[in-house]
Amino acid sequence: MRSTVLVATLAAGASMFAYSAQAEGNLNLICSADVVLCEQMKNMFEKETNIQVNMVRLSSGETYAKVRAEARNPKTDIWWAGTGDPHMQAASEGLTLEYKSPMLAELNDWAIKQAESSGFRTVGVYAGALGWGYNTELLAKKNLQPPKCWADLLDPGLKGEIQMANPNSSGTAYTALATLVQIMGEDKAFEYLKKLNANISQYTKSGSAPVKSAARGENAIGIVFMHDAVSMTAEGFPIVSVGPCEGTGYEIGSMSIIKGARNLENAKKWYDWALKADVQSTMKDAKSFQLPSNKNAEVPKESPRFEDIKLIDYDFKTYGDPEKRKQILERWDREIGASAN
Ligand code: G6P
Repeated sequence: MRSTVLVATLAAGASMFAYSAQAEGNLNLICSADVVLCEQMKNMFEKETNIQVNMVRLSSGETYAKVRAEARNPKTDIWWAGTGDPHMQAASEGLTLEYKSPMLAELNDWAIKQAESSGFRTVGVYAGALGWGYNTELLAKKNLQPPKCWADLLDPGLKGEIQMANPNSSGTAYTALATLVQIMGEDKAFEYLKKLNANISQYTKSGSAPVKSAARGENAIGIVFMHDAVSMTAEGFPIVSVGPCEGTGYEIGSMSIIKGARNLENAKKWYDWALKADVQSTMKDAKSFQLPSNKNAEVPKESPRFEDIKLIDYDFKTYGDPEKRKQILERWDREIGASAN
């Protein structure tokens, strides 16, 4: 008799637990930041809200393509992180939802500007400058000078030593392409990229992969966001990050709610939560060193500061336009991708 009561009590307890774990429903999230940060954000949010997050990590360009393909029947509720250009492209095609978070007032101007210029269909969550990371030991072994400028990457001694991502899949590489076009003009930038192609061993799918393989000693240089190079240094690898001498572009990592999201209320909960200062202050625990968009969030001491980098006035309006994207990517496919290794 006593054991029957115990079993019944346990069963009731278990089912109550199961109920509460599901009580707040689901959220389908695409995360375009580093996978370690993606997991950390997912776990924190699940713990705080009891909402179950189904998360996949996809690069920014891949996510944009997926969101477009699923426009009539969206499977995703929210797209967090990844470079701003494809978020802007999705916004201008009406694929994402207008939302004015009560958290906007706490954000830096650059993050609010991103929201305003997209009609509030996206918002800035972090920022970071483009550059590269090099492996000090590998360069020393090959007697090569550390490259300080974009021009230095054309050194024939670096043949097969550089990796960057493919700008179709990766927002990082799209930022690199758009940056070079803005610094040099389109024709000169493509001439440069053709020469650079001779030194490239691989165009990877994800943006930070090139510096991860440089950390492992597979290649000497990875063209990446500077904070991705700094993460490798923080992991203890012999990687140094560089802000190029001619100047460089930057990303405004962004977040958008997908139009037609099935779990809209939960998507808004994530949106407001991810803009909170204390949440953004935890990014460094995943060795992610972007500049946070909330003015009150802690800027990690490791973060490359914009004041120390020669930044161009990156034209987010032009390079966040779907037509411009199509045009420069088609040219890249024709002139670079087609002859890539
Ligand atoms: C890394 C960076 C992020 C960036 C992202 C873009 O994770 O840390 O700041 O937004 O790459 O990824 P992708 O694969 O699209 O280049």
